[in-house]
Amino acid sequence: MTSSFDTLWSQIAPIGRSPNGGYRRFAWTTADAAMREWFVAAARERGLDVQVDRNGNLWAWWVPDGHADEPAFVMGSHLDSVPDGGAFDGPLGVVSALCAVDELKARGVRLRKPVAVAVFADEEGARFGVACVGSRLMTGVLDPDRARALTDADGVSLADAMRAAGVDADGLGRDGELLRRIAAFVELHIEQGRALADSDFAVGVGSGIWPHGRWRFSLAGRADHAGTTQLDDRRDPMLCVGEAVLEARRQAERHGGLATVGKVVVEPNAVNGIPSRVSAWLDARAPDQATLDRILIGIAERVGRRASFEQVESTLVNESLTPAVEFAPDLRKRLVECLGADTPLLDTGAGHDAGILASRAPTGMLFVRNPTGISHSPEEFAERADCLAGIGALADVVQAWLYP
Ligand code: GLV
Ligand code: MN
Ligand code: MN
Repeated sequence: MTSSFDTLWSQIAPIGRSPNGGYRRFAWTTADAAMREWFVAAARERGLDVQVDRNGNLWAWWVPDGHADEPAFVMGSHLDSVPDGGAFDGPLGVVSALCAVDELKARGVRLRKPVAVAVFADEEGARFGVACVGSRLMTGVLDPDRARALTDADGVSLADAMRAAGVDADGLGRDGELLRRIAAFVELHIEQGRALADSDFAVGVGSGIWPHGRWRFSLAGRADHAGTTQLDDRRDPMLCVGEAVLEARRQAERHGGLATVGKVVVEPNAVNGIPSRVSAWLDARAPDQATLDRILIGIAERVGRRASFEQVESTLVNESLTPAVEFAPDLRKRLVECLGADTPLLDTGAGHDAGILASRAPTGMLFVRNPTGISHSPEEFAERADCLAGIGALADVVQAWLYP
């Protein structure tokens, strides 16, 4: 297990790396293709049967003779990243799943039900705006026509990007047959917080995911000269962005949630020009839907007021919304039994494919300790020993499922 972790981790370390040490592995780019090729090779090396499903997700099946019709215990995560993301978010779950297969073999565990490793496509939504595209399409919560029409910053549609990567975008959509092959799904992931940092536990068990979503403000004003246009004569959409940034913070503090403006596109983006148009993306998350709604309404009202005062045209569009998820209580109980009764239960504000699949199959998560809690950043880190503990835990969980 130790050596296979080191080998697999070092194989992917250079793929899609940016000069600041982070990763740019956006869906359906060459870096993503290299990650996917790496996975196919690593899975085949282990004797797994690799398939690409109709939504571009990768599946590596380990099926004992005579059990092909039975549903599998599925492990896995994703291989794409946010801009300058860390090494662990996604790949740790995939590498750990492959290592868990090695570990089960090393333990001499006789397979008597199918096991699979899944790589979900486009989890971060960094390129086309919607997160968890592969799992949303597969489960039928994302309309295939809407998915095909999503575009990246260069105007390339998701359909064309998938076609260029060899996936038939006409076939996207709910995959009932594949969903029936999932007996349970456990996603191992680096923790994206500090709940385990000061604990004695290298691995925690997920309890649920906060409801969360992404919204886009489109703000249209009037381009003008920064050095000559009097303040009263301006129609400056950037003032509405400033309002959105600060109100997001205020509303999050007031209601106990999280709200962030992390992406802004400014036109024409001139240092000496008042912008004509700005798009600003709001990411908001909260412990429950009512709180999330309150946060969003508070921000929208404030930006709307500012927009009418500044004579800026403002529209707000929801780009994705993920309801609250509670992971399957039975599976969670079994994970805790495997890891030890005192194992911490963690809920998270981060989205995961496990959260999407939770509505269709018993789903759970394991979190590996992150000493700083930092994620979506080149500084994201987990100790090697904790990663190995995660792999051991995953193998224990599969073994307990095979031999209850
Ligand atoms: C995915 O990592 C998300 O929570 O946005
Ligand atoms: Mn992420
Ligand atoms: Mn992730």
